[in-house]
Amino acid sequence: MCGIVGYIGKRDSQNILLEGLKKLEYRGYDSAGVAIHTNAGLELRKSKGRISELETRLEAQPLAGFAGIGHTRWATHGKPSDANSHPHADNDMKISVVHNGIIENHLQLKEELEQLGYQFLSETDTEVISHLISHHYEGNITDAVRMAVSQVRGAYAIAVLSEHEPDKLVAVRSASPLIIGVGEGENFIGSDIPAILEHTRDVYILNDGEMAVLTKDGVELMTLEGNFIAREMFRIDWDLMTAEKNGYDTFMLKEIHEQPRAYLDTMRGRIDEGKSILLTGVGLSAVEIRGLTQIHMVACGTAYHAALIGKTVIERLTRIPVEVDLASEYRYRMPVIHKNTLVIVVSQSGETADTLAALREAKQWGAHVMAITNVIGSSVAREADDVLFTQAGPEIAVASTKAYSSQLIAFYLLGMFMAQSLETLDQKALSELIANLERLPSQLEDMLKDLDQIQLLAELISNQNHLFFIGRGLDYSLAMEASLKLKEISYIHSEAYAAGELKHGSLALIEEGTPVIALATQELLMDKTVSNIKEVKARGAYVIALAMEGNTELEKTADQVIYVPRTISLFTPALAVAPLQLLAYYTASIRGNDVDKPRNLAKSVTVE
Ligand code: G6P
Repeated sequence: MCGIVGYIGKRDSQNILLEGLKKLEYRGYDSAGVAIHTNAGLELRKSKGRISELETRLEAQPLAGFAGIGHTRWATHGKPSDANSHPHADNDMKISVVHNGIIENHLQLKEELEQLGYQFLSETDTEVISHLISHHYEGNITDAVRMAVSQVRGAYAIAVLSEHEPDKLVAVRSASPLIIGVGEGENFIGSDIPAILEHTRDVYILNDGEMAVLTKDGVELMTLEGNFIAREMFRIDWDLMTAEKNGYDTFMLKEIHEQPRAYLDTMRGRIDEGKSILLTGVGLSAVEIRGLTQIHMVACGTAYHAALIGKTVIERLTRIPVEVDLASEYRYRMPVIHKNTLVIVVSQSGETADTLAALREAKQWGAHVMAITNVIGSSVAREADDVLFTQAGPEIAVASTKAYSSQLIAFYLLGMFMAQSLETLDQKALSELIANLERLPSQLEDMLKDLDQIQLLAELISNQNHLFFIGRGLDYSLAMEASLKLKEISYIHSEAYAAGELKHGSLALIEEGTPVIALATQELLMDKTVSNIKEVKARGAYVIALAMEGNTELEKTADQVIYVPRTISLFTPALAVAPLQLLAYYTASIRGNDVDKPRNLAKSVTVE
């Protein structure tokens, strides 16, 4: 996600901000900028691309001043561009703002502000904040910020520098991390510890609904209602590497734990009061949806596995037939595409060469192409007719985790969105689906707290040479992803099989002690899967089963059972995926592998 740094003190702020931003580069970003209070007033420098480009700009036109804010942007609204880069300012250039997170009601606020005469210079959701603060400013910047954020819905961490009161920085946190670093005669704001670690190890950690007012000599913490807060300072004893991973050993583990947040962000602003799905950015009209005769889904690697789940989701909710293809196969198999075909390409990076080529092929044949991608401004996002962005934030570990699971959430949203137009779901069924969907982030959060069983199971399989994953229906699709995850980071050979298919050949490979991970979360298929578990047990397999809470009868057949919180069967993959990712993770760690950078693999494959 985006990064924030702020400085107020006795030193020149430009380089402190730049160095802080560089410490946040590892998180991924597409543009950067700073605002500094100079003798000439509030001045901004910002630029699309690397921080080095911002640096070049600052070398040509340096900014001298003792207070400033800086930002690295990972686009969520509006493509990467100079104009969309932060900081954003009000029309009088008196107030500048940097922001992490998503403002859900920005379109409505923008409309209201435009009617009041405010002019917008960017496509971002953030810009509404600078105008709102300006609108509310009546001689007290802290009050103006407080009033502005009271109108804002969503997740945000913001830092504000104003020309009105240049001896102050104001910071607010709501569901997006923010810390205040305390120095001597200087104070700092950071979205992440690395941004300020070079200067101080003493921080206040802001909680949701809290704000901080910084001067060079002090920090005041208060609630959004204006009540002062007395808080213990927190001493950070992490080194820079640990701080980058937010205390986790690896980026992969950090990203696994970021999934509840990624789910929330992917749903954010897309669910209307628990009753309907809004997908701004998806231009498909109800008439076009009703005219669709088929859907093709095309992707590579983990994204392909997400599409396999997407197929079941869309078919069940819309009854439109769906085919799923590997992008490298699709373009050469002469797929039957006509103008009533919707082609959905799925790509975390939006740059995978085969996926991009498949997209172009589909467009040539006249298909309407929709992209599900994590990167705004990526090639796939630019070339598709419609884009549904996952909001997983930058993914750094090569093995995809939060991007995959956010793709599942995107498919759930899309399925329901299409079902609304097709009227294949009545309001009661839709509301029930939405209620279950909205529960997933907290259910996943709870699951991620209890890791002991997975660690023990990882010990058990870490010295194996090969193993099997089996499952039926959605469990089979998820088994493919679980198997890929294990292979790519642990280097243990594994195969995913449709549970009913194993006996047609590969059962011959099961011998005493062969681990079989049996996914049995689909309750309608449970009896069938239990029969398949018995088949492998009879040949000596050691069976680890995954089941929804309450299905304790599996304990009679399997050697171990991992329970997944109760949800509707369509959504179980979004929960069951976590123990499977963690199993791969801990197995690879026990084997001493470089989990974040597995051998022979690349995060983004831009060659055929
Ligand atoms: C590479 C990555 C995988 C990813 C695949 C597709 O192989 O290592 O994690 O699933 O590319 O990438 P995309 O960015 O298109 O989702």
